[in-house]
Amino acid sequence: MSIKITPSTHPVSAAERVEKLANPGFGKYYTDHMVVAQWTENDGWGQAELKAYAPISLDPAAMVFHYGQEIFEGLKAYRQPDGGIALFRPEANAARFARSARRLALPELPVESFLDSIYALVKQDASWVPDKVGESLYLRPFMFANEVGLGVRPANRALYMLIATPAGAYFNPANAVTVWISTEYVRAAQGGTGEAKCGGNYAASLVAQKAAAKQGCDQVVWIDAKERKWVEEMGGMNLFFVKGSGSNATVITPKLTGTLLPGITRDSILSVAADLGYTVEETMISIDDWRDGVASGEITEIFACGTAAVVSPVGTAKSSMGTWVTGDGTPGVITMQIRNTLLGIQHGTIADTHHWMKKVL
Ligand code: PLP
Ligand code: COI
Repeated sequence: MSIKITPSTHPVSAAERVEKLANPGFGKYYTDHMVVAQWTENDGWGQAELKAYAPISLDPAAMVFHYGQEIFEGLKAYRQPDGGIALFRPEANAARFARSARRLALPELPVESFLDSIYALVKQDASWVPDKVGESLYLRPFMFANEVGLGVRPANRALYMLIATPAGAYFNPANAVTVWISTEYVRAAQGGTGEAKCGGNYAASLVAQKAAAKQGCDQVVWIDAKERKWVEEMGGMNLFFVKGSGSNATVITPKLTGTLLPGITRDSILSVAADLGYTVEETMISIDDWRDGVASGEITEIFACGTAAVVSPVGTAKSSMGTWVTGDGTPGVITMQIRNTLLGIQHGTIADTHHWMKKVL
């Protein structure tokens, strides 16, 4: 995809950028530029444009407002020891974006075009990539139906956009996440959109997140829709359970049954844990397995993983069936080892044997 580049005439000053990067948060500040490309059924993808970050104008009857035809991705660019910048597994996000598009009846953006847009924006806004370990530039590609009309059918116009936000290392090692296992709400059922990264999945999850907060929990854990007993995910992250300890430990994650979001961090951790010498397993884990494993001490650590937070330890689980506590509220040894290995690969301080990192600059 050729990209027409029109640099912003009003980028934030270097001093202001430095101030923002000192405490980036997540989604608090946006870089100077964005990428936009329009698709129509008749003409396919038009000229992509990289231009100043700015609000967009949409017709009130744009279909996305009414029927929610929207998908997104999340990936990160990391500062490298030589001052350069590299992306973590961008092709995997490009592939998942195309799969999400198919599920939401949106046009597929070719993998090459997705990557071109990412590389172009990271190059343009390179000065926005923070340099502390755990910090990064979070890229948010998304696409939505912008055909004007109220007929319920796949839109014949869609807009692809890419924005970027500097992301802090929002990991607090002293705080394991407390989760509410939701038996009231369902995230995804077979045949639904659970495998796709579409805004609708998150909209449907918010009431459960609210219910979790009411129970004093930070996050929701989703169980399967059919048997209501298999552990699937935690909020916007995949889950891992560690059984045993030391070199005999087994690192387990719920199997992808078609209702879970196939996380790229999840997939990477399966490799990293195996590289570290652990037995890895993708299997079905029930809420009884969770309760009993914690009670017997067989489950020694639990953590969640995703692009945004990388790895977050999970401590207390609450549900209508009771409360179960794993560990002492501090991150487990294997959790931290996996987190530090993955972050080391991402920041270029640990050998990237899987060739995950893609150099931008
Ligand atoms: N599960 C859900 C529902 C998510 O939204 C995310 C976040 O992207 C993940 C899992 C983790 O996926 P990834 O590791 O690709 O970021
Ligand atoms: C993740 O990257 O782990 C996420 O949960 C993405 C989220 C901000 C939607």
